[in-house]
Amino acid sequence: MKLNVYATPDSVSDKALKDKNAVVIDVLRATSTILAALINGCREVIPAIEIEEVINMSKNYEKDAYLLCGERNIDGIDGFHLSNSPLEYTADKVLDKTLLFTTTNGTKAIRKVVDAREVIMCSITNVDVVAEHLARQKRDTAFVCAGTDGQFSMDDVITAGAVISRLSEMVDDLELSDLAVVAEFLYRNSKGNLHGLLENSTHYKRLMAKGLKADIDYCLTLNAAPVVGIFKDGVIRTLEKMQE
Ligand code: MLT
Repeated sequence: MKLNVYATPDSVSDKALKDKNAVVIDVLRATSTILAALINGCREVIPAIEIEEVINMSKNYEKDAYLLCGERNIDGIDGFHLSNSPLEYTADKVLDKTLLFTTTNGTKAIRKVVDAREVIMCSITNVDVVAEHLARQKRDTAFVCAGTDGQFSMDDVITAGAVISRLSEMVDDLELSDLAVVAEFLYRNSKGNLHGLLENSTHYKRLMAKGLKADIDYCLTLNAAPVVGIFKDGVIRTLEKMQE
């Protein structure tokens, strides 16, 4: 089973995903938010690239069936129901709703990897269930880190490392790319202190400066949202719902 880690979505060539799984990671905060919404019972999440795309899609839904969600440059979007804080996505707000969701980097990364065999949402909050899902399939896998504005983001690479570290306990014949080796090494050497490792990283500091420490704490809590989210035909649902 071959594992590649891509530091940014732009570093993934179209052919690289053929017949592979793609694991999309934007731990701070888009994939953590999507997983929080899924575990709290939303019907589905539809990732969009542009704000206008979200507004246009909303015209296809009854008023109470959807929520407008997301951020631009960390801040919530005027007129939207929810920002990109996973802590806002509680069951009383999201249960059975369709979430029309756009973020600066995360939703672009998700939409970029549609050619993969299966597209899986990943964060520190669902590391174990993602590793177990991949181990069951034993398919070659590309970890696609969302990064920030086209730049490598350490938090995403370390999350890939966390999944790879779990996978190496379950699968014997792993073949790691160089960045996969680095990701696993960094994760293992953090010795569980993700905050210590990441506190000087760019996006961590930007979120702290906006007073979003509680969001960071949630996003870096191992297995806080143990759910597998799959992006298929433009929609993210839980694996369970996909199989219904
Ligand atoms: C993004 O998609 O760029 C991020 O999730 C930004 C954020 O922290 O809101």
